[in-house]
Amino acid sequence: MGHFEQGTSTSAPPLALFQTTEPQASAFSFADALITSRQNISPRRLVEPGPNASQLDQIFRGAASAPDHGLIKPWRFVTVPLDKRALLAEVFALALVERDPGATPEQIETAREKAHRAPVLMLVVARLGACEPPIPTLERMMSVGAAVQNMLLMAHGLGFGSSLTSGQAMQSPGMRRLFGLTDGEEAVCFLNIGTISKRKTQRLHPEASSFVSTL
Ligand SMILES: Cc1cc2nc3c(=O)[nH]c(=O)nc-3n(C[C@H](O)[C@H](O)[C@H](O)COP(=O)(O)O)c2cc1C
Repeated sequence: MGHFEQGTSTSAPPLALFQTTEPQASAFSFADALITSRQNISPRRLVEPGPNASQLDQIFRGAASAPDHGLIKPWRFVTVPLDKRALLAEVFALALVERDPGATPEQIETAREKAHRAPVLMLVVARLGACEPPIPTLERMMSVGAAVQNMLLMAHGLGFGSSLTSGQAMQSPGMRRLFGLTDGEEAVCFLNIGTISKRKTQRLHPEASSFVSTL
């Protein structure tokens, strides 16, 4: 297990810790360890127990803290409880058959099975239609990404594993229908959360010099 064992971090550090110009070694170490130790854990490695209701609430508080130009909340999240997973499974199966009428029964079953993997599974929806004030789409997508990252970090801080999954079914008509997406809303990806059954070695993160330059 990593630095953040399940149940060890149930409340946010005091704001005062971060509201000073003095170097805060503990705040820095906390943020550095939390951010750099997060890793994608594939849904098939996420098992029960998932976060309980109050832990999920803390995870959603992460989204609510994301940068949000115009305070328009350009995101929404739709959780898929276990008793509704079969509906999602049919959407995955139908989307596969629509794009590949020759898909084998095994491939269709694998598509279905993806709906049943993590204890908590939710759709990330970007709200990109007309809004007031009219915040550019790109900025709204950045906000969605920041909200999702905050949620991943919250889940990690609570000791859970998490992953993002997408694929060609995201844009399928069945997906839009099942989640009641309206004009301007886009299904971005699924966010999966659960207890880690097995983890891979963490990938090497790129050096800052590979993506930073000076004008
Ligand atoms: C919107 C989005 C969707 C993603 N969908 C998938 C996916 O379907 N399958 C996958 O293996 N990785 C997917 N990824 C990438 C992983 O979430 C992960 O970031 C990547 O494998 C790097 O691993 P790390 O997060 O542990 O550094 C997606 C990432 C994003 C931002």
